[in-house]
Amino acid sequence: MTELLSPTRDGILRAAALLTAGELVAFGTETVYGLGGDATNPQAVAAIFAAKERPRFNPLICHYPSAEAAFAHVEADARARLAAARFWPGPLTLVLRRAPHCPVALLTGAGLDTLAVRVPANPVATALLRAVGRPIAGPSANRSGRVSPTTAAHVLDGLDGRIAAVLDSGPCPVGVESTVLDLSGADPVMLRPGGVTLEDLQACLGSVRSAPPPAAAGAGEALRSPGMLSSHYAPACPVRLNAASAAADEGLLAFGTPLPGAAATFQLSVAGDTAEAAARLFDGLRSLDRVAGLRGIAVMPIPDAGLGRAINDRLRRAAAPR
Ligand code: TXA
Ligand code: MG
Repeated sequence: MTELLSPTRDGILRAAALLTAGELVAFGTETVYGLGGDATNPQAVAAIFAAKERPRFNPLICHYPSAEAAFAHVEADARARLAAARFWPGPLTLVLRRAPHCPVALLTGAGLDTLAVRVPANPVATALLRAVGRPIAGPSANRSGRVSPTTAAHVLDGLDGRIAAVLDSGPCPVGVESTVLDLSGADPVMLRPGGVTLEDLQACLGSVRSAPPPAAAGAGEALRSPGMLSSHYAPACPVRLNAASAAADEGLLAFGTPLPGAAATFQLSVAGDTAEAAARLFDGLRSLDRVAGLRGIAVMPIPDAGLGRAINDRLRRAAAPR
């Protein structure tokens, strides 16, 4: 039922025609696949929430082909322009105040007076965004709360029959979602760690505060980034973090020399490289989840710096009580 489109001129034009008509099309970015819909069309945006079964209080990111196009819809200050010049196109999302005549549907931003904007680094996505000529709202193309998709096949696993098409641009090279940086207040706050590291943001902007992890966040912080619900990215199997040993009925998500004794092992990076591990993380969770008869997934420790912060954030939420 869902069309699989190749990343050719015809495939891109077909995807653009469907989006313009208010249909939903998943598309690859450098981070994960997005579930795209016309951000200026409230019916299309409502259909995104329905297809994902996503709570309506969780706002969506708008995707643009260029910083110029994005900054026509939000109020970009000097900090935003600096971050855009350094990291766009790329895995950074900026939360800024909506511009006075912003055409993006209010539902896209869940009614907030801010909007999350991003310019993805994927030539097929850029060609699609240019062909549509409107911002595309795009949450990750998975059912709400489940593991994010890094291939077209992952998208179809969760959404086949629920969306019009998937534009297949191959596996996503970064593998974890964009970093969400809130620049709507006096001080920059990183709401979600992702493909751009906190260290890189600080080198560009000076002091950047990291919002506390969801478990520690009070009601105020939780509201500030409504997507930071504790349980998320959840495979069907229970997940156990910082494993020092693996049981015979567990799957092992390995980082470096694998622990012995697991029923099945998925290696994130034998060399201990966090970029490689990020690119393989969601595929690893999905692969182990498909192994029959496992009691759970044990995850070896991953250093909590650089891209490791984004990996550990996703893993903590995969392991959170459901
Ligand atoms: O890499 C990515 O960012 C992918 C690709 C497809 O672009 N998209 C993605 O979207 O991860 P999603 O919907 O799964 O996550 C968006 C995050 C959520 O945590 C949401 O709460 C936050 O961004 N967000 C969106 N708009 C916001 C706003 N106005 N204020 C604060 N947080 C916002
Ligand atoms: Mg998501």
